[in-house]
Amino acid sequence: MKTVVISIGGSVIASKDIDVTFLKKLSTLLEELSKEFKIFLVVGGGDIARKYIDIGRKLGLDEKSLDVIGIASTRVNAQFLTMLLENSNKDHIPESTEDAIKLSKKYSIIVMGGTTPGHSTDMVGAELAEKAKADLFIIATNVDGIYSKDPMLHKDAKRFREIKIDDLIKIVGGIDWKKAGSNVIVDGPACEIIKRSRIKTYVINGKNINALRDLIKNGRLVEGTEVKI
Ligand code: UTP
Repeated sequence: MKTVVISIGGSVIASKDIDVTFLKKLSTLLEELSKEFKIFLVVGGGDIARKYIDIGRKLGLDEKSLDVIGIASTRVNAQFLTMLLENSNKDHIPESTEDAIKLSKKYSIIVMGGTTPGHSTDMVGAELAEKAKADLFIIATNVDGIYSKDPMLHKDAKRFREIKIDDLIKIVGGIDWKKAGSNVIVDGPACEIIKRSRIKTYVINGKNINALRDLIKNGRLVEGTEVKI
């Protein structure tokens, strides 16, 4: 059975207006896929993480404390997603990637959030893909792939169909962790793991259910970016 790790942005599943129809479609797809694939989901913190981090920063909390709050938010989102998925780890949200791999003996879908301070859930996904020897790592985010610059801020941003990992590292500003709540397309620590372990990685829009299905089932990239090593 092939293994797929999906790092799903908190903004995809828990943005301001939670979209019931989308969540139903997503959970149906994941259950369908889990008959054929071992699925690991790593969920981001989204709005709740950002709100706590912003207010905490204004209150003068240090970066590590802000990361800890971010991690707790990702775990709430992960727990929420388990409630929508049959045969997932509703009883226990793993706190490490090793823990997630152990749980995969018991469940066909394993959902987790963050682990330790100093990176985002993208890095957790990359680490899990590395340790689980995943066939595919998908970063499902809230934009349609990797752009030359932030498409939310720049109208002339150009989307790449494929990008070399070293060029991606340049775009995101290196392999170091920046700060809690950072909003880069793939965080630096994740890029480092993708590069060293030559993980087959794609960045797509997580709201595009058909693109997600096509990529996992047929290996076809309808829309999004392939990261080349
Ligand atoms: P994410 O940045 O992964 O969530 O975690 P997000 O905002 O949903 O990400 P997108 O939408 O995929 O970009 C939120 C914050 O939690 C802390 C970091 O501060 C991160 O910015 N965090 C998360 C950690 O410190 N360690 C982790 O393993 C995960």
